[in-house]
Amino acid sequence: MKDSLLDKKLEVEITGLTHEGKGVGRIDGKVVFVPKALPGEKVLCKVIKDRKSFLEGDLLEVIKSNPKRIKPGCEVIGDCGGCQLQHAQYQEQLRLKTNLVDDALQRIGNLSGYELQDIIGMERPWGYRNKVVFQVGKVNGRIKLGFFKQKSKELVPYTKCALLDENVQKVAEDVESLLNKIDQIDAKVARILLRRSLKSGEMLLGFITTTATPNLNDIAKKLIEKYSDLKSIVQNFVDNSSEPWGSKTVLLAGREYITEQLKDITYRISAASFFQINSLQAETLYEKVLQFSEIKGNEIVWDLYCGTGSISLFLAKDSRHVYGIESVKKAVEDAKENAKINDIANVTFLAGKAERESMKLIDKGIRPDVIVVDPPRKGCHKDVLRAIIETLPQRAVYVSCNPATLARDLKILTAGGYQVQEVQPVDMFPHTYHVECVIRIQRKKCL
Ligand SMILES: C[S@@+](CC[C@H](N)C(=O)[O-])C[C@H]1O[C@@H](n2cnc3c(N)ncnc32)[C@H](O)[C@@H]1O
Repeated sequence: MKDSLLDKKLEVEITGLTHEGKGVGRIDGKVVFVPKALPGEKVLCKVIKDRKSFLEGDLLEVIKSNPKRIKPGCEVIGDCGGCQLQHAQYQEQLRLKTNLVDDALQRIGNLSGYELQDIIGMERPWGYRNKVVFQVGKVNGRIKLGFFKQKSKELVPYTKCALLDENVQKVAEDVESLLNKIDQIDAKVARILLRRSLKSGEMLLGFITTTATPNLNDIAKKLIEKYSDLKSIVQNFVDNSSEPWGSKTVLLAGREYITEQLKDITYRISAASFFQINSLQAETLYEKVLQFSEIKGNEIVWDLYCGTGSISLFLAKDSRHVYGIESVKKAVEDAKENAKINDIANVTFLAGKAERESMKLIDKGIRPDVIVVDPPRKGCHKDVLRAIIETLPQRAVYVSCNPATLARDLKILTAGGYQVQEVQPVDMFPHTYHVECVIRIQRKKCL
């Protein structure tokens, strides 16, 4: 048995990047992952994990630097666990992400012959997040808003995150200062949710708390009087501070939602609704979906994993009918409401699992000309892929936030008679490792 390399300080050449933004190299033939190291670099790292098939190292020193390495501007970089790629110039981040997608499609999906477009980046890749959830804790006797360190519950106090809109940062600072004026509140407020609409500027504030606290009404009153754009303040009750969101929400001030607009569609967003984090890039993403769907006005479209119906409504005006399927009931209610306020009648939203509801549509004889799927990170259920293969739509459009599961699913669709034609990555989350893709998939001619 080889001696353990744990705690050893070793030099390593970085030759690649993982999907989590970690540099990859080899030590004695064994793969080593080094967060914050970039391809083309030689680094000194301290081994913090020595497992059977891989090592993980902490970056100690960059011996030979990638020319595109920069000094990140953020004060808490490396602590909050948020920006895994801020140490690379933005153009380099984009190049690396395009390569990651290509690599996954070839290596995992065994795919070739597709047209890979350069990733669509942002002109100004800062202040893009329209939603944030701050953790609340006490530091040196004062209540602070911030983020947890990666894989820990240690609070990193910080409200000036540059990925956040400045208006949101200002409200967060005021909330922090108002909470400090109330005794005994720290144990009750677990988190603060803030959302802001890009188009209307409207903001929503949510206190996520473990118990009722009447003082929040006073804070809500002060804030809504101070900020004219703050349109909604709610309180959500969780059983314990690690529960992300509880079933009971009460309105403290204003109305229950804010509105956002993508192109000519208006969306109502309440505290619990799913909505894309980057509104500007969401518009670009949905336009690509529309373009890749090639709908001309007479098609039956299925939008599987439809959330609050954002894509369904985007496609409805150019389709005969759109069927949206989503497992979260509240999101389906929002989707129906969104259809109503936009006066769109040719959509039907179904609450349930895509793998089951799509089978029910087949049983009813409702077959799609085009299928759009936008699954969570784990990708499509195998029965959803089966439904695509069995119903034989001319085209499918796959929207993915995980290149690895995307590649796995595309391999199945390719074996089932489909061809991956075009791959368009979109940078929805600059400075992080996340990458979104829209894929144009066509039924092979011989079928
Ligand atoms: C990445 S989001 C896409 C939302 C939407 N297309 C959008 O752009 O706003 C994935 C959605 O799939 C839903 N979901 C997860 N598993 C599901 C399943 N088995 N069947 C239907 N929907 C599911 C989630 O609740 C979530 O709303």
